[in-house]
Amino acid sequence: MNNPIKFNKKISSYNNKIFIDGDKSLSIRWALLASQASGKSRAYKLLKSEDVMSVIICLKKLGIKVKIKKDYCEIIGKGLNGYNYKNNLVLNAGNSGTLGRLMLGLLVHSKKKIKLIGDKSLSKRDFSRVTKPLKKFGAKFYSNKKNRLPLSIMGTNSPKPIDYFEDKASAQVKTSICFAALNTPGETVIKAKKSRNHTELLFKYLKIPIKIKKTKQFDFIKIKGKKEIQSFNYTIPADISSSAFFIVLTALSNNSKLLIKNVNINPSRNGVIKILKKMGVTILTKNKKKYKGEDIADIFVKSSKNLKAINCPEELNSSAIDEFLILFLVAARANGISYFKNLSELNKKESPRLKWGSKILNMMGIKTDLTEHSIKIYGQPNLKIKKTIIIKNYLKDHRIFMMSTIAALTCGGEWKIYDPDSIKTSFPSFLKIIKKLNKK
Ligand code: S3P
Repeated sequence: MNNPIKFNKKISSYNNKIFIDGDKSLSIRWALLASQASGKSRAYKLLKSEDVMSVIICLKKLGIKVKIKKDYCEIIGKGLNGYNYKNNLVLNAGNSGTLGRLMLGLLVHSKKKIKLIGDKSLSKRDFSRVTKPLKKFGAKFYSNKKNRLPLSIMGTNSPKPIDYFEDKASAQVKTSICFAALNTPGETVIKAKKSRNHTELLFKYLKIPIKIKKTKQFDFIKIKGKKEIQSFNYTIPADISSSAFFIVLTALSNNSKLLIKNVNINPSRNGVIKILKKMGVTILTKNKKKYKGEDIADIFVKSSKNLKAINCPEELNSSAIDEFLILFLVAARANGISYFKNLSELNKKESPRLKWGSKILNMMGIKTDLTEHSIKIYGQPNLKIKKTIIIKNYLKDHRIFMMSTIAALTCGGEWKIYDPDSIKTSFPSFLKIIKKLNKK
């Protein structure tokens, strides 16, 4: 556990413009796809966080050349299934469920056994959600710890395309299957509950044969494998999940205004904006544009009074899945009782986030009714915290650190938050931006 960071007063008012670090989902997908393309790909504004560095280290171990320069990252792909590595290779996914699960998809054809390991948090997370479909392609898995890491994969040299129902609304599972399909002859079919669609947009942009039919509840995806991928350059937009902490900081502070530049507001990710608008937060999107299939915009937000409680529509869950901790904080300051339901997936993240969200609100003096899959939050618009709140032993979940920091800066009281290093996994500039805004 490293030294705590302490807060004992609210943030002063500000009127500012900020740039947020690059989108994590897109950074990881770009690197993994570039490693399977033929030739030199470059990414500008790649997120330089521990999760993305874990991807780069894994790729290097798989025989892929990677150069990291000040302004860009370059990957020299060796084409489909072009990895080249020693016997008994061990890949470390660190804290990243996305890396661990997506990488296994690319390894269904591995010629040698590869062991995947991760940190304490990742080693508690379930991998059966990806091993189940990947076994159908023909891969074999070995683990002493039922579907947890460490886990070894042995690929097949005659993969078979699959027809699979992805029922968890998990983009990690969907992408792992799409990645396995890339290297598999024939047509892979996925019926997927709605989740972020960066992979499908990248496949379309790269002219990988993909067909998608959308209904209200599901996406029906068909992919034809074995089409070579051309190398490609990409400028990574800002991450909406990281931006969300600053949107809420501004909404809950006094007399402040903030412009966040160039954020990815992909409709499968922008639930946080829709939910906050319903709660009465003033948010505008400006300078909207398309970039390689993604929707990008500047986000403008103002301090917002008279926030309303919400009965959060379930159909927004998947597009806000990483933002619920910070949304719970807004509910804590809204007028009335908010209700968030059908969220059991939240307890399967870097920490059990539904439980942690409730625990932190309770420490702040906010009443909650918690079940395994839902939370009711009894808002207190005039909340005053008078005691010291200590946040520790939270499995270094980056989003718990950031939610607690925003709570401290907007609700007052004395706070000691351990493990500030946890932000390095997704948003290394978080505290620097706080400092820039909190000048007075
Ligand atoms: C991600 C998918 C989501 C999300 C995670 C990133 C991705 O996980 O929580 O932070 O990049 O595909 P699930 O697929 O488990 O919902």
